[in-house]
Amino acid sequence: MSDFREVQPKDFQISPFHAIGSDWMLITAEKEGRVNTMTASWGGLGVIWGRNAAYVFVRDSRYTKEFMDASDTFSLTFFDREKYADMLAYMGKVSGRDEDKIARWNLSVEHLDGTPYFGEAKIVITCRKMCRQPIEPHNFLDPTVDGRFYPTKDYHDMYIGEITHILVK
Ligand SMILES: Cc1cc2nc3c(=O)[nH]c(=O)nc-3n(C[C@H](O)[C@H](O)[C@H](O)COP(=O)(O)O)c2cc1C
Repeated sequence: MSDFREVQPKDFQISPFHAIGSDWMLITAEKEGRVNTMTASWGGLGVIWGRNAAYVFVRDSRYTKEFMDASDTFSLTFFDREKYADMLAYMGKVSGRDEDKIARWNLSVEHLDGTPYFGEAKIVITCRKMCRQPIEPHNFLDPTVDGRFYPTKDYHDMYIGEITHILVK
């Protein structure tokens, strides 16, 4: 983490709408010494249970979900959008079940308190899982959501993580 500096959540100034929704992020976790990652553009940052928190949504079918479920922690990493556009698109298209995506892009896996992240990122948020909540269709109040986003019933789990560190370059 040599060229990163730690920032306190209250001093962390980004637009989550831009950073997550437009620039995208990688969700990364480790299982039995192996690391997998995927692109995500849904999620948020906020406060719950008196903790600074990040929340993300991972569908049942994602290989990354196995890593999220096996680990107590995960990371969110944000990159220079122009420089890493192809990598972010790839991580959101190809599954780690089919190839070692991280090796293909030659990303350097580093760890903070045992949580993997990428040295090439410009922002790193590490999280400790506090809650995993399945998104269940009987809870939808907007009747368009199920058919529009879940035609194959591949529902998300929402993970709420306590933010343990924020690193920026
Ligand atoms: C822009 C973009 C955003 C995405 N956001 C999410 C997301 O928030 N949740 C999710 O489950 N999948 C999302 N995906 C799809 C996964 O990144 C994709 O299925 C990936 O290949 C899964 O890799 P894995 O099987 O190695 O986990 C997104 C894909 C793209 C391109």
